[in-house]
Amino acid sequence: MSPAPTEKNFDKGLANTIAAESKMSFIDGVNGVLEYVGIHIDHLARNSTFEESTFLLWEGRLPTETELEELNAALRAEYSLPPGIIDLIRTFPVDSPPMHALQTAIAALALHDSDADVNDPEANRRKAIRLVAKTPAVVAAFDRFRSGKEIIEPRPEMDIASNFLWMLNGEEPTETMAKALDVCLILHADHGTNASTFTSLVIISTLSDMYSSIAGAIGALRGPLHGGANEGVMRMLEEIGDLSKVDEVIERKMANKEKIMGFGHRVYKAYDPRATYLKTFAKGLAEDTGNMELYQMSNRIEEIMNEKVAAKGIFPNVDFYSATTYWSLGLKLDLFTPMFAIARMSGWTGHCMEQLADNKLIRPGSSYTGPHEIPYVPMSDR
Ligand code: ACO
Repeated sequence: MSPAPTEKNFDKGLANTIAAESKMSFIDGVNGVLEYVGIHIDHLARNSTFEESTFLLWEGRLPTETELEELNAALRAEYSLPPGIIDLIRTFPVDSPPMHALQTAIAALALHDSDADVNDPEANRRKAIRLVAKTPAVVAAFDRFRSGKEIIEPRPEMDIASNFLWMLNGEEPTETMAKALDVCLILHADHGTNASTFTSLVIISTLSDMYSSIAGAIGALRGPLHGGANEGVMRMLEEIGDLSKVDEVIERKMANKEKIMGFGHRVYKAYDPRATYLKTFAKGLAEDTGNMELYQMSNRIEEIMNEKVAAKGIFPNVDFYSATTYWSLGLKLDLFTPMFAIARMSGWTGHCMEQLADNKLIRPGSSYTGPHEIPYVPMSDR
């Protein structure tokens, strides 16, 4: 039996607590390394696909050709949304934040899945496939609906990245666009026990269901200190307006002790390896799509932050250059965090399955700081 926690175990923000064991992703925050099942993220970004990386995270090894074909077929068979979910999306107010729309639709998918409350490994694997396959359709359907456009049926011959862009825009994406999005999905697929993944673990550890767990994770992801920062970066770039104003705005924000979105990380005290990759990527895409000033503004922000806070271990994180990348891909600002959710679905579902394979209820203690022995005063005497 574990010993009862004591006051001296208190660790604000759980910054120094190891709360789970996982074979999925390894992070070396000091040297800026990220691996999925031992494979460097850079190698995966260059050579893998989102679907293959998902197999890697779920199964702990790269697939054979047949296994990858089987996973692709299983995912593609689940691209469509149940008609009830499309009907539900059509009831959402058109000004709903897409992350709220996504969270609601994902929770509602449980109502259309006979496996929803079955927690055996096979049922959970089927649900993981459905969640990874259907999340892009939810994001695209809500965006089409709120824009007054027809909701577009998925194309099962396409991979997840291409099919998402098809459902969103109603046009086949160029190879460069599809590849760029696929790489973004790989880079965002998993990242240890981050806040949203931890949320999903807490929920699944009660032996609740995967849909509840993922809906909770989506709620955690949208916060500006977590995945919501990619939208925050774009809003900051819009606020700055042009390259000549970068210094003035960043100096003012720093003087006001405002956090600069897209910088800093709980684990990385070195350059986030995903940001290294995305920086090069953002530059290439910005060049191709006429968004070079956006890239130059981001680069100037990085130079200023380097002078001011790099010594404190604050560097660009994954959200910083993903903002320019998504913008260059023509995505609306409030779809940036949903893009993160589409990718992280493979990590969240993988961690849920890993947790259930060796479950223990996650229930930390808290340090009570209130008073004791206060007399109960009847209402008439208060
Ligand atoms: N801009 C300016 N200063 C910063 C920043 C930043 N973005 N991030 C951290 N700092 C400073 C803090 O002010 C603090 O300074 P102090 O010691 O002088 O008080 C110090 O660095 C430590 O910062 P904390 O917020 O205490 O560090 P913590 O580990 O709790 O937070 C976090 C990490 C939340 C990511 C933080 O760096 C932040 O708020 N960044 C901006 C939001 C962001 O980009 N989030 C995305 C993270 S990546 C992801 O979730 C996918």
